[in-house]
Amino acid sequence: MNAVVLVGGEGTRLRPLTYALPKPMLPVVERPMIARVLEWLALHGVTTAVLSLGYQPDAFVDAFPDGGWAGVELRYAVEPEPLDTGGAIRFAACSAGIEGSTMVVVNGDVLTDLDLGALLAFHRQSGGDASIALTAVEDPSAYGVVPTDDDGRVLAFIEKPPREDAPTNHINAGTYVLEPAVLDRIASGRRVSVEREVFPSLVEDKRLFALGSSVYWLDTGTPDRYIRAQVDVLNGCRPGVALPECSRHGDGVFVAPGGSLAGDVTRCAFVGRGASVERGASVADVVVGASAHVEPGARLRHCVLLPGAVVRADAVVEESVVGPHAIVGAGAWVTGGSVVGAAAVVDDGARLDSARLPV
Ligand code: GDD
Ligand code: MG
Repeated sequence: MNAVVLVGGEGTRLRPLTYALPKPMLPVVERPMIARVLEWLALHGVTTAVLSLGYQPDAFVDAFPDGGWAGVELRYAVEPEPLDTGGAIRFAACSAGIEGSTMVVVNGDVLTDLDLGALLAFHRQSGGDASIALTAVEDPSAYGVVPTDDDGRVLAFIEKPPREDAPTNHINAGTYVLEPAVLDRIASGRRVSVEREVFPSLVEDKRLFALGSSVYWLDTGTPDRYIRAQVDVLNGCRPGVALPECSRHGDGVFVAPGGSLAGDVTRCAFVGRGASVERGASVADVVVGASAHVEPGARLRHCVLLPGAVVRADAVVEESVVGPHAIVGAGAWVTGGSVVGAAAVVDDGARLDSARLPV
């Protein structure tokens, strides 16, 4: 089976981290998110994946010098300009020469344990031109909302409606099976949104179906969800997902070779290669990337430190992401979904709440 993986977006909600690395190249417990997506596709029989690229394409090409990962052959389709999701699917399929057969399409920022085989079987049985995987969320307003009838026929596709207008909390999980006929509905050479143009036109012709499931699913596109994706690997929510080489120090607590954990841990933690959490520091639901350091008296909760980051004495980091080689100064507070960019410095005693540095 061939797949198109959409990874050309700019990752605006994770800026400034995504100035240095495109979103799917950001690590999820020490492994690039895209590698985890490819591992999931491989598990379900995908043999060739076309990476649909636009923003910082070289980062992907450089990451897979052998042209493959987890047994999946990789091809690269680099858009001359952003074509939006629909335009990107058409461009990728055509430039890789896979436009003549049924294909799987996935949003490359989604981590899921979805059963692709079940979606393919449903697709063949329903006989539509396209089938979408659905998942249920509490607040559907940030997603494509997809009401269906009892047979799974899609009745409407409403991208990001106001919460009070959403007819259901079943949303587009960002995994599709498409027949070649769908590509004919996508104009070439201009931006086309699969969610706003292509799916509504398929609904009109009664050619779109959808299948719900309750398996693990997360779109990693915001700081909170990027952190949650990693804590979920530690807390046992995703038993099938591999951790990098490490030893287990209790429930949900892992230390990689050369890492040192002398501080207090409540709930989950991962301490990467050569990283340290010093005595007198405390961590809860935290990933400390390779060679990162947490000094005494620092308190960290529900956060991610990327490789080489430093949190100085008595600082507080909560619900936030600290970029590679960034420094959080002594006694500083970084809270409320803040994102500290690569090599940025939060001054001693400074307060950053729901903020980005640099802006
Ligand atoms: N190649 C390419 N070109 N890729 C793009 C482009 C583009 O112009 N624009 C976006 N993408 C990629 C992004 O990199 C991402 O992997 C995927 O398309 C979806 O874009 P997001 O920006 O993450 O969209 P979203 O999360 O707001 O909404 C989408 O995903 C939800 C599920 O996670 C929609 O498909 C929603 O309907 C859906 O519910
Ligand atoms: Mg997304």
